[in-house]
Amino acid sequence: MMPKRKMLIAANWKMNGSQNLTKTLLEGLAVATQGSENEIAVFPPYPYLALTQDILRATPIRFGAQDLSAHDEGAYTGEVSASMLTDMGCYYVLIGHSERRAYHQESNELLLQKYQRASQQGLNPILCLGETQSERNANLTFQVINSQLLPFLTQDYLANMTIAYEPVWAIGTGKTATPDEAQVVHAFIREKIAEKDSSLANKIRILYGGSVKPNNARELFSLPDVDGGLIGGASLKKEEFIQLCRTTKI
Ligand code: 13P
Repeated sequence: MMPKRKMLIAANWKMNGSQNLTKTLLEGLAVATQGSENEIAVFPPYPYLALTQDILRATPIRFGAQDLSAHDEGAYTGEVSASMLTDMGCYYVLIGHSERRAYHQESNELLLQKYQRASQQGLNPILCLGETQSERNANLTFQVINSQLLPFLTQDYLANMTIAYEPVWAIGTGKTATPDEAQVVHAFIREKIAEKDSSLANKIRILYGGSVKPNNARELFSLPDVDGGLIGGASLKKEEFIQLCRTTKI
């Protein structure tokens, strides 16, 4: 029998928020999601990690950072290391979000170093993948996903891996992948992982991200190879995110 994967609903706040918003969102979330059958995680900006740790201490809600340094420590002004993140109680870290790939030219090589640092410190990396609109138009979706995924498919990395498929054209645009478009890419990702380790492929969660809202989440989350979502805009609206956290498969 297929192992049942617990859904993960994750909030990527990106560069948004304040201490006040962090408090309002997290205190509301902590109460409203008690007893939730989904796992819930939040990714606030670095300066709010301490406050997040404080508020979430007695809750099952996990949290993480949106990025990390490829270096261990030292003279890297402005960077934040994996050990600092574990020190702050982070459980997860996002790696290779399309905004990092696009605006900071993060290459697979750099992302591999980040992945390695995260794993060495016991952080659980969420590897983000996704094609742009022009890549999709040129029928390059599977090729792009494969090239972003392949370097990470080694035995060293598979065990604690989570994937987020976020088509770049669906991020912040209000344009969501159709269920068919999402499922076929998620199935492709799982198949690629299965070529390395079929039992782990059944356990690894593959989240969908890109304009997920309460009105489209249930259909997306119910797809066989979708195991939750990585939510941007809607995660900053308390009621919407709470609704998303409560969404279950049909
Ligand atoms: P939106 O939900 O705002 O489209 O953002 C998705 C995303 O990039 C999450 O990491």
